[in-house]
Amino acid sequence: MPVPRELSPTTTRSGVDVYRIPIQPADIALLAGHPTRVRTYAGQFVGPTIRARTGRPVRITFTNQLDVPSNVHLHGGHVPQRSDGHPMETIAPGQSRSYDYPNNQQGATLWYHDHAHHLEAENVYFGLHGFYLIEDDAERGLGLPSGRYDVPIMLRDAQFDTNGELIYTEHPPDRTTILANGEVTPHFPVAARKYRFRLLNSANERIFRLTLGGADLTHIASDGGLLPAPVRRSEIVLGSAERADVVIDFSEHPVGSQLVLYDVSGPVLRFDVTREASDTSQVPDTLRPLPALPPATVERDISMKFDLSGANPVGLVNGQPYDPNRVDFRVKRGTTEIWRVKNDDVEFGIPHTFHMHLEQFRVLDRDGAPPTPDDAGRKDTIFVAPGETVRVQVTFTEYLGTYVYHCHYLEHSAKGMMAQMKIVE
Ligand code: C2O
Ligand code: CU
Ligand code: CU
Repeated sequence: MPVPRELSPTTTRSGVDVYRIPIQPADIALLAGHPTRVRTYAGQFVGPTIRARTGRPVRITFTNQLDVPSNVHLHGGHVPQRSDGHPMETIAPGQSRSYDYPNNQQGATLWYHDHAHHLEAENVYFGLHGFYLIEDDAERGLGLPSGRYDVPIMLRDAQFDTNGELIYTEHPPDRTTILANGEVTPHFPVAARKYRFRLLNSANERIFRLTLGGADLTHIASDGGLLPAPVRRSEIVLGSAERADVVIDFSEHPVGSQLVLYDVSGPVLRFDVTREASDTSQVPDTLRPLPALPPATVERDISMKFDLSGANPVGLVNGQPYDPNRVDFRVKRGTTEIWRVKNDDVEFGIPHTFHMHLEQFRVLDRDGAPPTPDDAGRKDTIFVAPGETVRVQVTFTEYLGTYVYHCHYLEHSAKGMMAQMKIVE
């Protein structure tokens, strides 16, 4: 299994790590023997990994060498509006734009991806996705597996034609090929010790139900960082754009064993235990407590639904398709709110995920029942099944400005299932 290359800063200027990343077409053999035309960050189908540290800002200048507009959103990032990759703030072909990421948030597995108005689904599908990992000192002090034993794994789906080219159809997508870090059911040789894997579902519209052939996964972090304590899980469920960090201890398996990570659709990748290794890493019983939730003073309802009455489906949030010139919610900075997020696509049974920019939230309940283990911790994206209502609580901290929230089934957001809030003083 390929591990996406980590990028080193081109320079460091007054404590800011500066990177340059071209957005460019490339031909990459995703299937054996067939080069596939893709859209990439720096020529890599899984873009280069950025490793950032809490308290140390990063500036990335992206240059768009594609012939379509693009832009970049740091998913899960707590960033000022001008660096959020608002859908209308695109980078025209031939142009560049710099994004400033303050990294004033705790360690977490984030990712960056395209967010250009109406183009995000296509651009991400063709390869504009990469990892952005934040680490902090307290997390480092826990002694979790690190360095080469800390491996990001991007899971997604794709549809290929007989020449190995990607097929992009919006309706209905028929993406039956699963890629793990850009390869079909790759093998990953591992040592008989603990590894941390950062699992991301970057598929445009899919849910992964992951199991390890009967063995347990130790769940240590969700979208926004560490859980209060590790949780043994037999299955991890990830909707589009969700992340889960897990530890797998291969020392429980003799050298020569193979462990397969399965989705319900079939095998995703295989771990081959090939050698002994020393291991000083640990998974402490306590990771990082979640702060108490400040009391909420505002409640809002969010409904996600398709209008299927016309020739083309139109995505709606609270009855309206996305309009970049309309502010849907005005939010007072410093306020804690409860959002009741409902999937109103009961008739056709269409699943959605809900994603909010800017802040991490916490799931309070699902249809009145306690959150699932997949809802645990700090979240920015949740799966919402048809008819389901999920209540989340969120505090809007320092940044002002206009940020979007949307369904992260990107064909849905590209068709309008998106809205925006303006954080005001
Ligand atoms: Cu992954 Cu609007 O984001
Ligand atoms: Cu986002
Ligand atoms: Cu949706």
